[in-house]
Amino acid sequence: MIRKIADRVYNVGAIDWERTLFDEIVSLPQGTSYNAYLVQGTEKTALIDTVEPEKYEQLITNLEELKVENIDYIISNHAEQDHSGSIPMLLKRYPNAKVITNAKCKGFEKDLLHLDDDVFITIKEGDTLELGDKTLRFIMTPWVHWPETMTTFLEEDKIAFTCDFFGSHAATTHPFAEQYDRIYHEAKRYYSEIMMPFRQIIGRNIKKIEALKPKIIAPSHGPAYSEPKFIIDAYKDWISETTKNEVLLLYVSMHGSTKMMVDALVDSLGKRGIDVKVRDLITANLGEIAMDMVDVTTIIIATPTMLAGPHPSAVYGAYIANALKPKVKYVGIMGSYGWGGRTVDILKSNLGALKVELLEPLLIKGMPKEEDYAKIDEFAGKIEEKHRGAGVLR
Ligand code: FEO
Repeated sequence: MIRKIADRVYNVGAIDWERTLFDEIVSLPQGTSYNAYLVQGTEKTALIDTVEPEKYEQLITNLEELKVENIDYIISNHAEQDHSGSIPMLLKRYPNAKVITNAKCKGFEKDLLHLDDDVFITIKEGDTLELGDKTLRFIMTPWVHWPETMTTFLEEDKIAFTCDFFGSHAATTHPFAEQYDRIYHEAKRYYSEIMMPFRQIIGRNIKKIEALKPKIIAPSHGPAYSEPKFIIDAYKDWISETTKNEVLLLYVSMHGSTKMMVDALVDSLGKRGIDVKVRDLITANLGEIAMDMVDVTTIIIATPTMLAGPHPSAVYGAYIANALKPKVKYVGIMGSYGWGGRTVDILKSNLGALKVELLEPLLIKGMPKEEDYAKIDEFAGKIEEKHRGAGVLR
């Protein structure tokens, strides 16, 4: 389905309604899209990004419907295959086309797609490409979320094609975001899963995009934004150092003792005016956990001791937090054990990348007793103190 973005600018990419999993880990409750943008100048035609190879036929159907007989340039903003994977097939169909990208992306695509050196024209920051009455300018926006990522700016129409940056996993027939609540949610999920570890550099890249004063931001997943301020402001909020008065409690429980501790902690935190998000690590999906992490002040990992250490799912929870590097300020470990083990040391060793204060761990033996409930209440009191100190609870 063709989605018109501006005069002779079309989204000819693919809508993937059925896909439920990305990177074999990220769930896609709203499907996704791989946007490829056709820009037709009076002299030359460019295609900005391509599609996941298995959706190549959708791209070709759209190009045929627009009666596109020649593509001069394939602009590649990002080497990951959901955007670059159809380049080899497109080069067979349009043998005169050249792939326009930066040197780093070229290197990746030679490895990932086995493309020859001579199909590339290499560009750098600020270079332009004339299509006749339309001009493309290239702006390096690295680490959103690979080192080679860049943005292509269509100067006359003021459209920033940002690839993954500002994207959302959302399948929709609409060219532009209309259901803002839905798109906010999916864009936040997308940010949390792959962009969050690069918060600092994302801040610099946002400034670069703002400086362009775009009228439209057109990412390569989900709808485009005819009101760029909506997604730029959302990103500014997500990358800021400001957290909310929230605790994310990730837990796993085998025989119920750890769950009893979790319930008591939730109760005590709630009475203290702290919002709690509780996720069972056995059933929660990564997307929900990642999104929860965007704004929380504190993460608590609760686990029984198993095989002389934390439950493997608790290690997974710690590993995910460590890899996503949210702006969380405090992390706590709690749980129940039978006879001993290295639960705290092992979890701590999986949290080394987080710049956080580790709260004094709370481990109890067996099922919580009356004095243990008092300790859980004290533990909640420590969290309250920290939230007050951080200014998120008044
Ligand atoms: Fe949508 Fe990084 O690929």
